[in-house]
Amino acid sequence: MSIRRLPPELINRIAAGEVVERPASALKEVVENSLDAGAAQVSIRLHAGGLELIEVADDGSGMAPDEMRLALERHATSKLPGDAIDRVTSFGFRGEALPSIASVSRLTLESRVRGADGWRIEIDHGERMDEGPAAFPPGTRVRVEGLFDKVPARRKFLRSPRAEYAACLDTVKRLAMARSDVGFTLDHDGRRILTLAPTEPPTRVAELLTHELDRHGIGIDCARDGLRLTGVISLPTFNRGMADQQYLFVNSRPVKDRLLVGALRAAYRDLIARDRHPIAALFLEVPLKEVDVNVHPAKTEVRFRDPAAVRGLIVGGLRRALDEETQRSAAREQAAAPVMWTSSASYARDLDRERPPSALREEQHSFTPVGFVPQGQAEPAVEPVPTYPLGVARGQVAATYIVAEAEDGLVIVDQHAAHERLVLERMRAAREGGDVARQALLIPQVVELDEPDCDRLEGAAVELAEMGLELERFGPASILVRAVPAALGQTDVARLVADLAVEIAELGGALSLRDKLDHVAATIACHGSVRAGRVLSVAEMNALLREMEVTPRSGQCNHGRPTWVKLGHGEIEKLFGRK
Ligand SMILES: Nc1ncnc2c1ncn2[C@@H]1O[C@H](COP(=O)(O)OP(=O)(O)OP(=O)(O)O)[C@@H](O)[C@H]1O
Ligand SMILES: [Mg+2]
Repeated sequence: MSIRRLPPELINRIAAGEVVERPASALKEVVENSLDAGAAQVSIRLHAGGLELIEVADDGSGMAPDEMRLALERHATSKLPGDAIDRVTSFGFRGEALPSIASVSRLTLESRVRGADGWRIEIDHGERMDEGPAAFPPGTRVRVEGLFDKVPARRKFLRSPRAEYAACLDTVKRLAMARSDVGFTLDHDGRRILTLAPTEPPTRVAELLTHELDRHGIGIDCARDGLRLTGVISLPTFNRGMADQQYLFVNSRPVKDRLLVGALRAAYRDLIARDRHPIAALFLEVPLKEVDVNVHPAKTEVRFRDPAAVRGLIVGGLRRALDEETQRSAAREQAAAPVMWTSSASYARDLDRERPPSALREEQHSFTPVGFVPQGQAEPAVEPVPTYPLGVARGQVAATYIVAEAEDGLVIVDQHAAHERLVLERMRAAREGGDVARQALLIPQVVELDEPDCDRLEGAAVELAEMGLELERFGPASILVRAVPAALGQTDVARLVADLAVEIAELGGALSLRDKLDHVAATIACHGSVRAGRVLSVAEMNALLREMEVTPRSGQCNHGRPTWVKLGHGEIEKLFGRK
């Protein structure tokens, strides 16, 4: 590989900006260089979250001494053959990273090309201090010490070593997922944190994400129009309070791209509460000419030539996978059940502790349940159980939960959560079928709003009408509402319309109108559903169960919690110590 200075016209086309902001960004640049150099093994050592030391050693191509000197100059790179800045396949392409880091730290660059001798160059805040031969295996080692020590303006913004370490670890994980074919080790303050042998992407991802995804993840593999998306996402019920476990890659480059994050979010719309976040590792492959990586100084954002196609693939592909999976889980095994029943298992253990096992056994023999009729029992349990996946309603508990008997166990349904879901799905189906029941207001209602809110609502009027909400502009700062979805019953129209305006604004341009409407529908559904605390008749309960069985996504409520759980016969037997 030969390094050259870039011509000025190319330099000016490079997305300018701060390359190094904190230890993690310096680490990212140095590791990316190792990967670009064809390393098979990258060894990383950090001290104090990278504030004291960042050291990266690789077994890649290495550099000859004059190349090393050039590498430390600005705008010298080996990675843009033919000036093809629109066809970048390497991580680097600007020749900025090493000189930027060297200007704000003490940097030691050691390198050796196979078959030649090693060389070492020391730089102190941009000034060359020393250089000379070094005994060194083929490859490159970069040491960065005292980053920003002499740059108080920067130093001020650094966080604690712990926080900086967390950011470094995140960076290493992302790059390690991007390049599963490369081995990595990470040491922090003398402690080994990661040892990753070269492997296939799914294995690497499984090593770095929570193992819970083995049970609560859905594999993704879909393609359209020359784009391909692979990876794994979590079931909606398995979510997090932070969006920190979302690993997104475009052509093996880790990105934090807003379009992609927005598309991921949209795919989970109404399956997950707004303040909860799925876990995901998604790899998007795009033809090089379709994507521009030269738009962000840290290269973490990209620009797609056809953003709608990318968005469509992600939202469509993930949504299909989620639908299939959640429907499957509703019809057979509830995916969230294992989590739920862990608590039951510990309950069983508590029982054991409270009563000596012998007493427990004795009780089993002496206690005959025959004739014990719990209050609110709906049907005697003597008739044969038809093979409905969610079983036959046997009763209601606390006027909130339906208890049903299925062929293979006991089912408990949260009636409000389930009904909310059904209302939403009914509204959605009606919308798709184009026949939404609406209720005309006897006297159309005028709602006063900000002008931008009115603009937003007016802009969405056609789609809102499809949902049964008929409105029109009525002066600069008011909206006239003529009809509301019938599913709503009595509603505070002004509040509904104001909420919708806020929602449309918040969801922003990143989402298609369809997704926004899904979200809006979820809000409406929540208002229109059976409350917890309402006593249901047996017929009502069974009707709810049958509807759940045929409704997509009925396994979760609109906030991502399970709507029902099943306790299998085996588990019941375990609870009573029979197994
Ligand atoms: N670990 C390494 N092994 C071999 N060569 C390297 C290594 N690190 C840097 N280089 C060489 O030094 C050059 C400059 O690196 P630098 O990171 O500054 O710029 P770049 O990678 O070309 O572009 P960018 O600024 O976008 O990262 C690279 O083009 C590469 O030729
Ligand atoms: Mg680089």
